[in-house]
Amino acid sequence: MSGNSGSNQMWGGRFAAGPSAIMREINASIPFDKALWRQDIAASKAHVDMLATQGIVEAQDAALIAQGLDQVAGEYEANGVPEDWDLEDIHMTTESRLAELIGPAAGRLHTARSRNDQVATDFRLWVRDAIDQVDSGLLALQTALVARAGEHAGSIMPGFTHLQTAQPVTLGHHLMAYYEMIGRDRSRFADARARMNRSPLGAAALAGTGFPIDRFRTAQALGFDGPTDNSLDSVSDRDFALDYLMAAAQCSLHLSRLAEEFIIWASQPFGFVALPDSLSTGSSIMPQKKNPDAAELVRGHSGRIVGCLTALMITMKGLPLAYSKDMQDDKPPVFEAASLLALSIAAMTGMVAEARFRTDRMRGAAELGYATATDLADWLVRQANIPFREAHHITGSAVKLAESRGIALDQLPLEDLKAIDARIDERVYAALSVEASVAARCSHGGTAPAEVRKRVAQARAALGLEE
Ligand code: ARG
Repeated sequence: MSGNSGSNQMWGGRFAAGPSAIMREINASIPFDKALWRQDIAASKAHVDMLATQGIVEAQDAALIAQGLDQVAGEYEANGVPEDWDLEDIHMTTESRLAELIGPAAGRLHTARSRNDQVATDFRLWVRDAIDQVDSGLLALQTALVARAGEHAGSIMPGFTHLQTAQPVTLGHHLMAYYEMIGRDRSRFADARARMNRSPLGAAALAGTGFPIDRFRTAQALGFDGPTDNSLDSVSDRDFALDYLMAAAQCSLHLSRLAEEFIIWASQPFGFVALPDSLSTGSSIMPQKKNPDAAELVRGHSGRIVGCLTALMITMKGLPLAYSKDMQDDKPPVFEAASLLALSIAAMTGMVAEARFRTDRMRGAAELGYATATDLADWLVRQANIPFREAHHITGSAVKLAESRGIALDQLPLEDLKAIDARIDERVYAALSVEASVAARCSHGGTAPAEVRKRVAQARAALGLEE
């Protein structure tokens, strides 16, 4: 962007000529790492406060630096961060502006630190904030899932395996499956947060420093649980970013699967759901169309988020200790994944909260496809003490007969059922309705409406929702 051809003001002592245009461009991270400005200011303030406490920098200078940093922050807040490629990154941009504002005292800020521990600290702080944001988004999604599940604890739909009708389930049960997935995502993010919450600040370039710094003090000031324990690892570790991306990738897979359900359910042959207008689009040529674009994009975004994880894994593989400039490329994939994930979570939360479930269509579909065949087999086992394998065979004959006549199982006359197996009597019909089928599945975690209501109540308590 800017084209200062003189020697660099930060390392001008060693380099006579300025960087070539290509060098300047490939080196500059300010176009993306300006997103770290809040964390960079906070870490610098903690650092200078510690330098003063330890008597490494005089109190007067430290106060001047802290005030100056507040002023820089105010400017960034008001006007954005200026992008001067000669200043490379957010760290040099801030320090150089500080020097313009307060003069030579600014030069004392970088005592006993390096951009290597500085960027490791800033980025950890940023990822930690991103985790807190993602957690509140996921909480909102779980809240929406639980609300709709409570509404539909007794709404019957076909349950599928291989996307073929398998057994009737309830819509509430189906939605609560996603509540479970999102709960595991939240716990993965929480694990990542707990693991990353150590401060690399004070590791300096790679080997630590001879200044009498207090790393515990800066760690505490920045909300870390303590300092990291190896300076080489501190500046070269990006596990925290990978942990975040792994959790994000897995979460995006769950969102993609949920999106896929909505896409299938909204298609005309299914007709299980009318998507909210606010999260659909029309077609420029086919007036009747209402397309599930938001859900499709959530499904698509998961590919990009997994790509972000892959990108950083491959960047990190094979890097020797300690810092290498490759690691500057850690930020774009994390930033990209974070914004894609936040949008995806918001879109799916809206979709779950506002979808109009067409329970009549779901129930009608559950009646098709011999979804209660297992119930006939179970009935034979229970009432006639027939081994399950044999009961399975008898039921198969009944399904075949009903299918050849184009009717449901419970529409077969008793004589026909008796002709298949004499041990069948009229009580069997009570077991063949879809209501009886779901009500029977009352094992822990099963689809019976009473069981689903229990799980919903538990979930509401776990989320801290008032009854
Ligand atoms: N902009 C750099 C990054 O994001 C900061 C660290 C630079 N350190 C160095 N020794 N060149 O990784």
